[in-house]
Amino acid sequence: QELKLNLEQIEKGGYPHFMLKEIYEQPQAIRDTFRGRMREHKGIIKMAGVDDHIDKFLNAKRLVILACGTSWHAGLVAEYIIEELVRVPVEVEYASEFRYRNPVIDKDDVVIAISQSGETADTMAAMKLAKENGAFVFGVCNVVGSSISREAHAGAYTHAGPEIGVASTKAFTTQITVLTLLGLKIAKAKGKISTSDFHMHLEELRLIPEKVEEALKNNEHVKKIAEVYKDASNCLYLGRGFNFPVALEGALKLKEISYIHAEGYPAAEMKHGPIALIDEQMPVVVIATRRGHYDKIVSNIQEIKSRKGKIIAIVTKGDVTVKELADHVIEVPEVMDSMSPLLTTIPLQLLSYHIAVMLGKNVDQPRNLAKSVTVE
Ligand code: G6P
Repeated sequence: QELKLNLEQIEKGGYPHFMLKEIYEQPQAIRDTFRGRMREHKGIIKMAGVDDHIDKFLNAKRLVILACGTSWHAGLVAEYIIEELVRVPVEVEYASEFRYRNPVIDKDDVVIAISQSGETADTMAAMKLAKENGAFVFGVCNVVGSSISREAHAGAYTHAGPEIGVASTKAFTTQITVLTLLGLKIAKAKGKISTSDFHMHLEELRLIPEKVEEALKNNEHVKKIAEVYKDASNCLYLGRGFNFPVALEGALKLKEISYIHAEGYPAAEMKHGPIALIDEQMPVVVIATRRGHYDKIVSNIQEIKSRKGKIIAIVTKGDVTVKELADHVIEVPEVMDSMSPLLTTIPLQLLSYHIAVMLGKNVDQPRNLAKSVTVE
């Protein structure tokens, strides 16, 4: 028993929980994801799974992304990124819905199955269905040799390293990284992006790990905010554009490990329901980075404020306007809008982590949840 405990201590590498360790591993994990793939000097991104089937990607009339949980959120971010870069329609589906609803599948579809574990039963069944109907299936998995990675026609690994905490963290940011590379690669192959723009994106991506490190420096500040809101019974997360899925993911993280009810919404949809919930008890986490629909989000913040909601805003470093309005701000470094989810996610992971720890919850193994859902 003692030996087992010691082994676990060693595995946690000095961190009290796997989740915190994995949050802190993100700069390295993201670096490992793009290592060897970005070849700026040659003006290419190397991804063998795409190169070997490039015609499939060039001829695809649409991309269909299948996933569950956090991987589904990464898929939503990818939808925004890939549509922007490649200008082909992208659909993101819950694997569990797709598999049972007699979906329209075309042989010219490229289906992307995203799964950290590579073992999720619904994702596996959904991709098999797509395959049987003639689609080309590309896997984005973390676990090497996993069932989904083997079942796919081709794929790309995230190379995030083992993720032990049930609440997914580094898998999410590395999935977004791989899918960004994929988007850039297809855009380049289709001539949808200029050489200078392509290089600018690669340059920006290369700086992400340092910026994630900078975002992690807010840990103590986030912990203080967690202290204020740990007893909340509800929490709302709002974001727009690329950061709308980050709002969903932030809410998921909080409910998974702290058992506080949380909802993520596209900020403007707030008016169609959640605004009714806002009162002085309600913490509202708003992703309000400068490049993404900033004015719109500022007016959403004003609406929350006038209803006395407590605002925790994720802002771009040096922000002035939101700082005046929000109860708390957490800064992240400046970055191009499409890559901001890689940074804005970090404080949300830390916030849920600290709240769960303060509430004495089992952070790494929350009740009723499994790391990988291998049965229906
Ligand atoms: C479970 C895990 C989540 C994960 C989801 C999908 O619900 O608790 O963290 O996002 O499954 O898992 P996958 O391995 O397919 O990404």
